[in-house]
Amino acid sequence: MTETLTLRRPDDWHLHLRDGAMLAGVLPETARHFARAIIMPNLVPPVVTGAQAAGYRDRILAALPEGMTFEPLMTLYLTEETDPADVAAAAESKLVKAVKLYPAGATTNSASGVQDFDKVQGVLDQMAEIGLPLCVHGEVTDPAVDIFDREAVFIERVLDPVRRATPGLRVVMEHITTADGIDYVKSQDDMGGTITAHHLVINRNHILVGGIHPHYYCLPVAKREEHRQALVAAATSGDPHFFLGTDSAPHTDANKQSACGCAGCFTATNTMSVLAEVFEREDALDRLEGFTSLHGPAFYRLPANEDRITLEKGEPVSYPSHIAIGEGPVTVFDPGFPLHWRVVEA
Ligand code: DOR
Ligand code: ZN
Repeated sequence: MTETLTLRRPDDWHLHLRDGAMLAGVLPETARHFARAIIMPNLVPPVVTGAQAAGYRDRILAALPEGMTFEPLMTLYLTEETDPADVAAAAESKLVKAVKLYPAGATTNSASGVQDFDKVQGVLDQMAEIGLPLCVHGEVTDPAVDIFDREAVFIERVLDPVRRATPGLRVVMEHITTADGIDYVKSQDDMGGTITAHHLVINRNHILVGGIHPHYYCLPVAKREEHRQALVAAATSGDPHFFLGTDSAPHTDANKQSACGCAGCFTATNTMSVLAEVFEREDALDRLEGFTSLHGPAFYRLPANEDRITLEKGEPVSYPSHIAIGEGPVTVFDPGFPLHWRVVEA
């Protein structure tokens, strides 16, 4: 008898859709399986105001192919000039579901991010008051800190002080890559943590052993194997602090495979198959729905999706190696092992 698994339709609590031709090319890859996604605002220029978020939301919905449904959950990019009143109005109108903190210079298109945290205290206080979550890219940018230590150092130098200075602020530590991040989030009441599919299957060797593998390079960069194991343990534990945020981040091959390759893994296409494989190995398929479809809505105070998707286990699934985009091909994440679960009804 065929093994099947039916779940409430999943959501993606951290997604890069870009704009223009790239948006049109990658959006169906997410909308095929996911009902909603928290949309990252790191466009060029970034999505800073409520009006810009409304315009971006309209462009996303206009790019959605006929017959597909998808709800973009918009975010604002926090800058030192962000106006607390604009954030409050955008949240009040239900347009915006979170504000994103990029430490200046931490990653792709983060130049307008925050350097001086005193300058954003007013916005953070306002967010704490209205219960609007802060999504955090948790890495320090101090050049003296080793890139593999940047997440752990961020917790003590930035995250913990910001949270202490802003009682009641609800924070999502995004794309956690370390046991330090897992331990911190787990110990806090008003926090969530997202975990990507790719960080559940790669460690830093995948990037650097046997040549440089640009399609495994993202930020925060994958860490040692013991950290990957801590992520798998957290994701499959059933702990409601943790939920899926794919950080699916498309870049054209030309931009990845260059002397200074961009950070980002494009995982939207096969995330659900990768996750089913990981959860099955841990004998935790019964906890997959919590991770993909229940814990995220609970944190964001939104209803879980009512409709369902079904996955079926069988012969290894083949995925396209690339998605064709007007600007050039985008490589789909290769987990490096066969995937046996396919989404059959979405
Ligand atoms: O790998 C990443 N890619 N990490 C980020 O934080 C940004 C993202 C992107 O926008 O490409
Ligand atoms: Zn991201």
